[in-house]
Amino acid sequence: MLAVLIESILNKWRTMPQAHVDLTGRTVVVTGSNTGLGLDSAKMFYEMNPARLILAVRSLEKGEAAKQSILSLHAGTASSENAPSVEVWKLDMADFSSVVQFAERCEKELERLDVFLANAGVASESWAVTKDGWEQGIQVNVLSTILLSLLVTDKMVQTSKLTAPKPGIEFVPHLVIVASDVHFFAPFSDRTQPNILVALNDQKRFNSSTRYTDTKLFEILLTRHLAQHHPVYASSNGKGPVLCTVNPGFTRSDFHRDWSPVFKWCALLHTIIKC
Ligand SMILES: NC(=O)c1ccc[n+]([C@@H]2O[C@H](COP(=O)([O-])OP(=O)(O)OC[C@H]3O[C@@H](n4cnc5c(N)ncnc54)[C@H](OP(=O)(O)O)[C@@H]3O)[C@@H](O)[C@H]2O)c1
Repeated sequence: MLAVLIESILNKWRTMPQAHVDLTGRTVVVTGSNTGLGLDSAKMFYEMNPARLILAVRSLEKGEAAKQSILSLHAGTASSENAPSVEVWKLDMADFSSVVQFAERCEKELERLDVFLANAGVASESWAVTKDGWEQGIQVNVLSTILLSLLVTDKMVQTSKLTAPKPGIEFVPHLVIVASDVHFFAPFSDRTQPNILVALNDQKRFNSSTRYTDTKLFEILLTRHLAQHHPVYASSNGKGPVLCTVNPGFTRSDFHRDWSPVFKWCALLHTIIKC
């Protein structure tokens, strides 16, 4: 773990590693793309020239600002005719009805869905309950992420059967869930409870210092389960859509915006000790 932490600080603290795949004619969705890793990923996807780049955000205002920040990087360079279409779509992961509406919109309005980066996440320092009655971290990081992944799967299957928009460039649709290496530290003590979700949603059992790590481990376990047992992902044999997690490593972002300075230092110390 110490090696992962050092590698993250050296390689990802100031600059993002660069990647390039030709996404000409394809459609990319990034959730939580108004800031942090989601915004930087969206900027990078733009460079890969997709036909449509959807910024899925809970604040349309912040989404529009993010869109402008992406477009401003390319002002005057690409001809507007061939430039990717950047669209801002509403998605609140703390609201199941918003997740369902977003997935329905994908089904109706997208001709194809080649990359779905499920990036939106929270690290709550304190107990907060969504309007659906779930502790925020559990709903955003785990329940809505998995629900949304399941709901967009059909569109990704349909996409895998379409011809490549640019002849010669083959690319299997990817549904990528942004996980975290902090899952290594997760005690996940509620795993032995008769009903894990009920236990995680019990305020008396809530521990702010382990909630985020627990949600990231839970997210990975559920994704692995789907990759191994969901009929689409378990039998895709490299032809159907791929479901996977990605670990960005320790990265500078807006993630700890709600944390008090004391809590931030305690969390950092805790991480170093665990390493
Ligand atoms: N930063 C790191 O070191 C690190 C390391 C490992 C993994 N990660 C993972 O990377 C992902 C992105 O984190 P980040 O570091 O880029 O944090 P960030 O800068 O705080 O970005 C989080 C994004 O998620 C969005 N989001 C939060 N709650 C949402 C909701 N209810 N509905 C829709 N969107 C919501 C935020 O929107 P608002 O701006 O509107 O709140 C924001 O766009 C997370 O899944 C996190 O677990 C981060």
